[in-house]
Amino acid sequence: MEIKNIAILTSGGDCQGMNTTVNIVVRIATLKGLNVYGVRQGYRGLCENNFVKLTNANVENISSLGGTILKTARFPEFKEDEIVDKAVNNLKERNIDALIIIGGDGSFRGAKSLMEKGIDIIAIPGTIDNDLRYTDRCLGFDTAVNNACNFIENVKQTMGALDRGVIFEVMGRYCGDIALHTAAATACDIVAVPEKPTSEEEFIQKVKDCITINKKVPTVVIAEKLYDIEKVTKRLNEETGIEFKSSVVGYVQRGGAPSVWDRTLAMQFGVRAVELITKGILNKAIGIKGNNVFEMNINDALHCEYNYNYELLNLFYLLNTKVED
Ligand code: ADP
Ligand code: F6P
Repeated sequence: MEIKNIAILTSGGDCQGMNTTVNIVVRIATLKGLNVYGVRQGYRGLCENNFVKLTNANVENISSLGGTILKTARFPEFKEDEIVDKAVNNLKERNIDALIIIGGDGSFRGAKSLMEKGIDIIAIPGTIDNDLRYTDRCLGFDTAVNNACNFIENVKQTMGALDRGVIFEVMGRYCGDIALHTAAATACDIVAVPEKPTSEEEFIQKVKDCITINKKVPTVVIAEKLYDIEKVTKRLNEETGIEFKSSVVGYVQRGGAPSVWDRTLAMQFGVRAVELITKGILNKAIGIKGNNVFEMNINDALHCEYNYNYELLNLFYLLNTKVED
């Protein structure tokens, strides 16, 4: 089948590197003589027929921007069969031969629904959470961790000056990658991640041990949704005799210019996506392992074995073990 028209959309939480990917896809696909359409607002736009033809001029100077020029959406309706049918009809009416989807695990499930109805897809992992397990890295993760680190370093300095403890909450929706990498890179004392669950009681005890055994005023990173940060901060204030502050790092992690690493990854993913489409290799998820970009079936990507970086977690624990100098 000759491929002439392709479309691209960004879905779920935006992440740094989405724009870089769109830029590369448009430029490379145009060079190869393909027509490229952008779908606005992810799956919502797919159902509402919100397509726009993309040219090189449309994507000039977007590579270094956070957010997504195509916009994105949380669109839970896409779990419904009839809604997916609408998207399929819109794609067919426009003679779209392949659709590139950039997003996280939810977006990949949406991709699967489309695939099951005969739409040819290439899926690119884009989520700061880094929770797609088939790939070492998702777009946006590196930038988000860097943003969180800058934030935490600044707050740590002022809290340290006043001998205050701090509990930071970082993003990651059920995935501890941002928390672990951020805590390790900023030399915090304690990290709490969902991959190594501890009760609130155990967590509080760990912080207390850090004060009594390690003789430190602790800086702590917890992953989103693990504990009620206000509650645990209040308890630590009342139970330790040290002043604790809470600090939710928040959306600053998801915004701002993509790091060089994320831009490079976006370029690699974008180039591979167009290459696969032109070769007729479809319904693949693109990823990276070590330095190698690869592709695998989207269904397999969604069922990949859990490979949390316990090595880094254990190193973090080791570095925070009290030793006499
Ligand atoms: P992310 O892709 O970053 O994980 P979401 O979880 O919000 O973000 O998923 C993005 C979108 O993918 C959802 O808003 C919805 O439109 C679609 N989606 C999520 N889960 C499913 C599912 N099980 N079936 C079909 N579509 C889904
Ligand atoms: O995009 C991922 C993420 O930032 C998660 O870390 C977080 O749980 C969620 O999105 C927040 O979603 P929203 O932007 O809809 O508040």
